Amino acid sequence: TNGVITIDPGYKNTGSCESAITFLDGEKGILRYRGFAIEELAEKADFLEVAFALIFGNLPNKVQLDKFHSDIKAQSLVDDDIKKIIDAFPKTAHPMGVLSSLTSALTAFNPSSVNVDSEEDMYNSVVKIMGKFPVLVAWTMRKKQGLPLNYGSKSLGYVENILKMMFEQPNEDYVINPIVKNALDKLLILHADHEQNCSTSTVRIAGSSHVGLFSSLSAGISALWGPLHGGANQAVLEMLEAIQADGGDTDKYMAKAKDKEDPFRLMGFGHRVYKNFDPRAKIIKKAADEVLNDLGVEDPILEIAKALEKEALNDPYFVERKLYPNVDFYSGIIYRAMGIPVDMFTVMFALGRLPGWIAQWREMRLNKEPIGRPRQIYVGETERGFIELEKR
Ligand code: SDX
Repeated sequence: TNGVITIDPGYKNTGSCESAITFLDGEKGILRYRGFAIEELAEKADFLEVAFALIFGNLPNKVQLDKFHSDIKAQSLVDDDIKKIIDAFPKTAHPMGVLSSLTSALTAFNPSSVNVDSEEDMYNSVVKIMGKFPVLVAWTMRKKQGLPLNYGSKSLGYVENILKMMFEQPNEDYVINPIVKNALDKLLILHADHEQNCSTSTVRIAGSSHVGLFSSLSAGISALWGPLHGGANQAVLEMLEAIQADGGDTDKYMAKAKDKEDPFRLMGFGHRVYKNFDPRAKIIKKAADEVLNDLGVEDPILEIAKALEKEALNDPYFVERKLYPNVDFYSGIIYRAMGIPVDMFTVMFALGRLPGWIAQWREMRLNKEPIGRPRQIYVGETERGFIELEKR
């Protein structure tokens, strides 16, 4: 501090806003959306109900839920010219980079979404992105696989239709597997919001300049991509595969994670807020066992993950730093069992986090929050005169 400005790197001890959306207790490992415990929501709700509750404040009744879903379906068409943008990407492009670009491009095809001030304008932007984002997610994956880009079918539920758009094969009728549908519902619910994390703070600060929702979300997708944030779920699987390739040598990776000289971190471990078990990790770990068992999938990676967790929970380095598995540690194992490519794992995180980002952006705008503009402590050169080029 310089007596006037106090620097708080990473905002570890800074509150950016008052919010009524999500409650976290890092010590007790509690997570609630609009007062509802995620353990109950993950068990009893479906993703669209939770999205409605996050965005509008309460679980919807049947009439509200049906209207929300039909308004979303009415807005799920994506201008076909978006396919020209998708075609322009190399097949090697990372899906998060493609998705961030396509989400921003939506503004070009929906100019009314640029300036949203009234609640009605906001509602229109909300149902537009809730309808179009899953299409962009599915098309991003399908393009890399050389498969046709479709819309699924209007008769299906929100999550069922996402599965159909992602997985239907041209020469067969796609049948929804209830195990996969329930697993995806649960995963999307568990990723739906998490108060002022890095990507949500990015959505809020971008939106605080009154740029539209789609552009604010595009910024949030970029922030989520980072391996320290949502990108960790892909990094976890790559780490577990590396350990498997090393003959399951978890000790080697534990040692690397503790080596201060080595930038390697045990991906999927640690959290800024949870200094106890991440309640989402607990649910996902249990679901991983159930889903793999129900699908009859044997995945040695799950056993490696459990061995790594067990070792870390008994290792003083991790225990004294309160490093426990977080939401990203087990989620990729379920995505993989569902046939989702590893470079799409963080996209699935974004798909789940979409309603949370929307809810937080809407709250920021309705609360008329001021534009985000922090200060700094200047530590650079004192004033000095210009020096001509020939004299430098
Ligand atoms: C998500 O914020 C959210 O809510 C995010 C999220 C959400 O829902 O939006 O929960 C989703 O992003 C979960 C986190 C996914 N990231 C990873 O799994 C990447 C690995 N984790 C770390 O990079 C780290 O734990 C963070 C980024 C999650 C938290 O970082 P912090 O709070 O800034 O902690 P830190 O870097 O100050 O670490 C404290 C100490 C350090 O050691 P010392 O310098 O004190 O000796 O713990 C060490 C760190 O080196 N440490 C780790 C570690 N995480 C922290 N050491 C090894 N492996 C790790 N994973």
